[in-house]
Amino acid sequence: MVSRKNEKALKNIPTVLVIFGVTGDLTAKKIAPALFSLFRQGDLPEMFHLVGFSRRSLTAPEFRQYITGVLAKQKDFDADECAKFCGAISYQRGTFENAGDYRALREELKRVDDRWGVCSNKLFYLAVPPEYYEGIFKELKTSGLTKTCSNEEGWTRVLVEKPFGENLATAQRLDELLGEFFQESQIYRIDHYLGKEMAQSILTFRFANNLAEKSWSNECVESINIRLWENLGVEHRGSFYDGVGALRDVGQNHLLQLLALVTMEHPGSLASDAIRARRAEVLQMLIPPDAREVRTAALRAQYSGYQGITGVRKSSETETYFKVRAFLDSPRWRGVPITLESGKRLGEVKKEVEIIFKHPDPCFCPPHDAAQYKNRVVIALEPKEGFSVEFWSKKPGLKFDMQREVFDALRENPNRRQYVEEYKKLLWDAFAGDQTLFASTAEVRAMWRFVDPIINAWKANAVPLASYKPDTAEALLAAAKVNWYAPCHNSGSATARKSRRNLARNKRSLKHR
Ligand code: BG6
Repeated sequence: MVSRKNEKALKNIPTVLVIFGVTGDLTAKKIAPALFSLFRQGDLPEMFHLVGFSRRSLTAPEFRQYITGVLAKQKDFDADECAKFCGAISYQRGTFENAGDYRALREELKRVDDRWGVCSNKLFYLAVPPEYYEGIFKELKTSGLTKTCSNEEGWTRVLVEKPFGENLATAQRLDELLGEFFQESQIYRIDHYLGKEMAQSILTFRFANNLAEKSWSNECVESINIRLWENLGVEHRGSFYDGVGALRDVGQNHLLQLLALVTMEHPGSLASDAIRARRAEVLQMLIPPDAREVRTAALRAQYSGYQGITGVRKSSETETYFKVRAFLDSPRWRGVPITLESGKRLGEVKKEVEIIFKHPDPCFCPPHDAAQYKNRVVIALEPKEGFSVEFWSKKPGLKFDMQREVFDALRENPNRRQYVEEYKKLLWDAFAGDQTLFASTAEVRAMWRFVDPIINAWKANAVPLASYKPDTAEALLAAAKVNWYAPCHNSGSATARKSRRNLARNKRSLKHR
């Protein structure tokens, strides 16, 4: 992660960010507000320039006006600051497949470099649907835009968004394609959950304290629940969402990244490679569910009214809610059920990781209801951020009765703006060349390996698609009736054996690091 020393150096790195598809939603909602916020905090490199690339016919002043309009929607907009920020912005009209437009882009980048008298570092952000990736990569390469000036200066990097592929096969193809043009160290795969303060705090909670880490295993942990419950629906994103569904939208990436952070082994250091390798290692231990496991522990549902949203197919079978169970084939976590649950319009916002500890045995608690005496640690992302720890103490009085106590360090975040804090952090790290908070190819593949069998079984209708009333807890209550704590069926299966082999291979490669 970017250290204070790197932070200073970052200010002196001349950086040009090129955004392909700049007039789309991604720039308006995430990238532009994040960049503007970094600018206002004084956290952009002193020499920073943004080039927007899109097929829209705009002049540079019109583009600046467009960006101003986008930023004016932000709560704390400041017109003077915005005018200053727009001083570092230019525009290149072009289509993604036209070589001439890339030559013009190269000229534009050269003008910026000549003005500064340096060879700047260049970042290419693909804010476009994945079907355009191939054309853009090819043109970037043939136009010479990806060439560095020398080994010391003018690096080039590429930023791509999730979902990275639609399944393992397409993710692999995308990787092969990227591999033709870029090295892994140049590729920044965004998962904004990795940029969340609380996601990063998981590692501090675990590895900067000696409080819970010793009991952080199947010896003491009974189950883990990872939740991303939303109030929001799919409005305005119908056609994108309908082709993706909840599991691919947030399960394959965000929830599994939280799982990785909660269950990974100690990385030994804060080095980017070490952390990414540990995340990948534990994700490779996910046991891909077999048909029986999917039938019993992979629920899906859709809220009523969803099919009426613009862009959604009238007979759509896309899930807007899921709850699935995962097991890890690792000595530390074998047998501990981990549920991943998310949905739209669930009537409540709750984003958290809950770790439930086993009831102590023997226990200093009344025998008749002893089973309830469990500790709980909650790592909360929303609505409040922070940690809470539940434990039992003696109730004051003559008798030896128990009472539940909660220690919590939870804070409100009234200034939360969806995506902005995370994108600020991710852009900042990408400028600095720190890949810690970006998913590696090994992680992406491991996540698809777990999710693919579920999606395939759902497609084959192995699990009926339930319906729930939007803005109620109906889906959550129905799912709560399932026994999520039953043992895993397939820990002895071929897939589990394969995941054990992966584990051994990873351990060997970690030793050689
Ligand atoms: C995005 C999904 O990646 O994450 C959205 O595409 C989802 O559907 C969002 O709403 C949730 O992110 P956050 O930061 O609001 O929890």
